[in-house]
Amino acid sequence: MSKNFIDDFPILRTQMNGHALAYLDNGATTQKPDCVVRSICGYYGGCNANPHRGVYELSAKATKIYEDARRKVAKFINAKSAREIIFTKNATESLNLVAYCYGLTNLHAGDEILITVAEHHSNLVPWQMVARAMGARLNYIYLTADGNLSAADIDAKLTRRTKILAVTQISNVLGLVNDVKTLAARAHEVGAIVVVDGAQSVPHIPVDVRDLDADFLAFSGHKMLSPMGIGVLYGKRELLDEMPPFLRGGDMIEYVTEQETTFAELPQKFEAGTQNVEGAAGLSAAIDYLQTVGFDEIARIEHNLTTFAIDELKKLPYVELYGCDAANKVGIVTFNVRDVHPHDVATILDAQGVAIRAGHHCAQPLMKFLGVNATCRASFYFYNTRRDVERLIDAVKTVRGVMHLA
Ligand code: ALA
Repeated sequence: MSKNFIDDFPILRTQMNGHALAYLDNGATTQKPDCVVRSICGYYGGCNANPHRGVYELSAKATKIYEDARRKVAKFINAKSAREIIFTKNATESLNLVAYCYGLTNLHAGDEILITVAEHHSNLVPWQMVARAMGARLNYIYLTADGNLSAADIDAKLTRRTKILAVTQISNVLGLVNDVKTLAARAHEVGAIVVVDGAQSVPHIPVDVRDLDADFLAFSGHKMLSPMGIGVLYGKRELLDEMPPFLRGGDMIEYVTEQETTFAELPQKFEAGTQNVEGAAGLSAAIDYLQTVGFDEIARIEHNLTTFAIDELKKLPYVELYGCDAANKVGIVTFNVRDVHPHDVATILDAQGVAIRAGHHCAQPLMKFLGVNATCRASFYFYNTRRDVERLIDAVKTVRGVMHLA
């Protein structure tokens, strides 16, 4: 790792529309450092074979890379055992796995699934499916004016009927950190299990599944410097052991007869077919890189950038901010420019080399709750600089003029 993070990310030195790139869409995906790219090339250049299948040396090498990555992930989130780490495609697939394999086998008519109105669709749409299939009710925790979860709603809605509490640790729209540890303790008191969407938290804050007492945790590699197509589901072993497989086929079986199959032990039971070894290699390199940077440093940088961006945007009377007054906030700033559609704002910023996301952010119920159709979102990572934020602010100042509203 070099002292200046940007030196490790060649893409951050490229241009967009003739301007130096200010990449502020890290909530959607992060850029990849050289070491991650090298780990993928190294895998294909010297170690590629199908893991778990061959008895020859090359296959053993691929198996080692894959299983070492699993052990590294287990340590990274403090899982009790690497068997509790299932590799998936992304957080969405991880959450679907829990919905299909736990939700469809453990819920009954009249049970309740409790989620928050700030969930990403991937922690919402699968639960709609489970609720409909099982005759269960999907219930919502709403937000207070500052964007935090309503304590009154938690008290009223987390009851003995609740069988699953599924909650994001950090909202992908508001960047607010939910107190998952307290929520998990409350949920366990009423006999519910807790599913944590860690897609926006695991890349930014230390996540310890045993300290949180999460029953399941889902996250994606691509939001934490790794390649796309590798994700993780952590689950407590006693729960995973009892669940049926998600996908069926090669490598997830113990024994197959013409009519019957017995399944492999964890984690193979949930990993049917040839797996994404290069993704695991990249995730492993990414974890090493993140640990070298350190979560304290990541928090410090993101806090400074977020505070600076919010302070500057607040000076613009035509900018409306969402969830920006709470203390428990990480590097996401969501806003609108009065009378301008967020897609127009993002297009005007793009022309000046500033990449942000605009739209509903896969969180339409939250948009409705906030009373908007869409927002602009700038999301930071540790490699962003104060200059990136200045570029964002300068570009936002041009928006109304470009739209002939100034
Ligand atoms: N979930 C990603 C986001 O929030 C794609 O942008």
